[in-house]
Amino acid sequence: MPDSENPAAAVTFPPAFLWGAATSAYQIEGAVREDGRTPSIWDTFSHTPGKTAGGDHGDIAVDHYHRYREDVALMAELGLGAYRFSVSWSRVQPTGRGPAVQKGLDFYRRLVDELLSKGIRPAVTLYHWDLPQELEDAGGWPERDTAYRFAEYAQIVGEALGDRVEQWMTLNEPWCSAFLGYASGVHAPGRTDPAASLRAAHHLNLAHGLGASALRSVMPARNTVAISLNSSVVRPLSQSPADLAAARKIDDLANGVFHGPILHGAYPESLYVATAELTDWNHVLDGDLTLINQPLDALGLNYYTPSLVSAADPAAKEPRADGHGSSDHSPWPAADDVAFHQTPGDRTEMGWTIDPTGLHELIMRYTREAPGLPLYITENGAAYDDKVDSDGRVHDPERVAYLHGHLSAVRRAIADGADVRGYFLWSLMDNFEWSYGYGKRFGAVYVDYATLERTPKSSAHWYARAARTGTLPE
Ligand code: NOJ
Repeated sequence: MPDSENPAAAVTFPPAFLWGAATSAYQIEGAVREDGRTPSIWDTFSHTPGKTAGGDHGDIAVDHYHRYREDVALMAELGLGAYRFSVSWSRVQPTGRGPAVQKGLDFYRRLVDELLSKGIRPAVTLYHWDLPQELEDAGGWPERDTAYRFAEYAQIVGEALGDRVEQWMTLNEPWCSAFLGYASGVHAPGRTDPAASLRAAHHLNLAHGLGASALRSVMPARNTVAISLNSSVVRPLSQSPADLAAARKIDDLANGVFHGPILHGAYPESLYVATAELTDWNHVLDGDLTLINQPLDALGLNYYTPSLVSAADPAAKEPRADGHGSSDHSPWPAADDVAFHQTPGDRTEMGWTIDPTGLHELIMRYTREAPGLPLYITENGAAYDDKVDSDGRVHDPERVAYLHGHLSAVRRAIADGADVRGYFLWSLMDNFEWSYGYGKRFGAVYVDYATLERTPKSSAHWYARAARTGTLPE
């Protein structure tokens, strides 16, 4: 138990707490042209000059498609109770429609069986940003049909794996898909159309709702369905009415736009008002909000750093400092009157300020927002410039400190009444960090990109002890 009288007391978690690690398909699998897989938007984007650091792409990534057995053995060594991974839509349904490719499904069947044989619980994310290119060519997420295609895909994967995977997530961080993909363009497909990004957000919500129903229609009732949101912890720079209004606007654009319809069956009225110049929201059809507002079994939260905002003069064109990459285009539609500031404090290699209080705040917010809904931290972690020492080891005390701080915040939230059932460290191993390429290492396991050799960092050993004992090692 955390002990407020004695901050040095051991931090111990409830016995059933799930200790996991997470990855996603495009970031680790490689084998992009094998067994019938066709390009996703991330294949196209990363092969477009200037889109990723150093022109990095996921063609080989960390070759997990061929090394999954070795990787699962590593997870077992680390004592992981659960592993969150995503399915590549392009492997399973290469054009995004039509019949499934059995070889693609077989890969995930083998992976899941390997995990189960080691007592590791698989947690599947259906969509972690890698839309089949053909669906983007047909209009992508701004088009309503993409949501129906997703439901069909969800049903295929649910049918194939529902007998052996209990924990399911429809989408990962739809905010990134909608706003980094279609507004700022720093993510695939790289479009910069704010009105389209708002349509994308709605169709992602619809995909979630339709996908959740499709999963339930084919899976055993014991399975759980959730979504992983990267809801922002938005803090105003001051208590002035203008700064408070700026924070509320970003809260709508980052959070309410997803949790509004998903948890409460409605978009915030203030979101409609704020975005009125861009869209009249006539893409929201009668019945959509009911379809989106499906009962959930859990909610996944991904957290890295809080946001600090104030009112701004739109003419001043201040640099954004929102931590979401550099682009002349903002990922925040209709928010030119909001400025983003760097939260004071130490930062990780991503430039993201380390602030575990934000994680506590986030958990408590969703404890209020969704009373009774079990929560999972489906991602949390840090990038550091890790190096292999002369002794062949990788020492990453900063990552250990980051994990200690954030897991302690989770434990405090549990003590404060939050129902947090588990934590998935991002990431199991170093991988393709999207537009940042391979330069940013988030792994607990180091990957030598020349040889693809895996070396657990000291944080991996630390985390393994935490997972085995249920108590954070000092
Ligand atoms: C969020 C994403 O889900 C994941 O793919 C990414 O690598 C991490 N955050 C770190 O940026």
